[in-house]
Amino acid sequence: MQKHFESDYNKLVQKNLANTDKHSAMAQSIGGNFIPFGIFQRELLLQHGLKANDTVLDVGCGAGRLANALKEMPQLSYIGIDVVQELLDYAQELCNRPDWTFIKAADFTIPLENNSVDMVTAFSVFTHLLHEESYAYLAEFRRVLKPGGKIVFTFLDFNIPEHRPVFASNLTQISDRVHLNQFIDPQAIQVWSQHLQLDVEGIFHGNQPHIQLNETVKAEDGTFHRGKVALGQSICVLQKPCNATNIVLAVLPKDFLPEKYLELNPDLAALTMGLGSHYLAHGQFENRRFK
Ligand SMILES: C[S@@+](CC[C@H](N)C(=O)[O-])C[C@H]1O[C@@H](n2cnc3c(N)ncnc32)[C@H](O)[C@@H]1O
Repeated sequence: MQKHFESDYNKLVQKNLANTDKHSAMAQSIGGNFIPFGIFQRELLLQHGLKANDTVLDVGCGAGRLANALKEMPQLSYIGIDVVQELLDYAQELCNRPDWTFIKAADFTIPLENNSVDMVTAFSVFTHLLHEESYAYLAEFRRVLKPGGKIVFTFLDFNIPEHRPVFASNLTQISDRVHLNQFIDPQAIQVWSQHLQLDVEGIFHGNQPHIQLNETVKAEDGTFHRGKVALGQSICVLQKPCNATNIVLAVLPKDFLPEKYLELNPDLAALTMGLGSHYLAHGQFENRRFK
């Protein structure tokens, strides 16, 4: 069965494709502002340390808004992941970078090796996921990141007055929503980061311009952006500690068996919480065996 974000986004893309031309449908499906926001995203990554020959993993890459803005960096390696094949195909065609990879994946596992990526981005993706799903992704991002590597993601925040209309709009769609529009409390990000052993480099409010442009960028309405700009959503930058050697799991390993875990850890017999929950919350950090 398809997960909520998979069916919501596939439906949205099909609806847009039925109503308008391909380019407009693709741009509309990921929120519009295709060229200017792609440049904003790229400049943000450069500002937070993206280097010419880095490997970037762009989760929820959509129609290639960021990829398109990065495509002139010849030594950059790029992997885009999304849940809608039409968006991935469009992004791949637009970039014309045969050395780049676009992958369909929807189960919070990333088909990449441990410690293989310099930067992971998720622009307006956790906005459409349950908190547990975002947390699971963060753990997986940490696994594939090289020590010292960074995660850049955006989110909706109740503290930002400009974000509240999204909540009002959610109220009008309770029984028939296009997709989930999830808010995340910055305090939750702090707690998740602590659990996942990630350092918080910064949280930047969506209504405060944080991205320094090095060029004048033309907006879709014909106006021009210069100087410092904001993406609208708030931005969070996390870093995998340089001395990180361990993996932190947020999803139980496929070969986890509660009975075996109990057999190997008999002191847990009186546990009131589930054995799987115990392993994720405590056992893995206490180096308890489960097989
Ligand atoms: C608002 S769009 C943003 C696209 C892109 N990041 C950008 O800024 O242009 C959200 C994207 O996330 C994708 N998506 C939703 N759930 C996802 C998941 N669990 N894993 C990967 N991508 C997901 C959607 O298909 C969609 O392309």
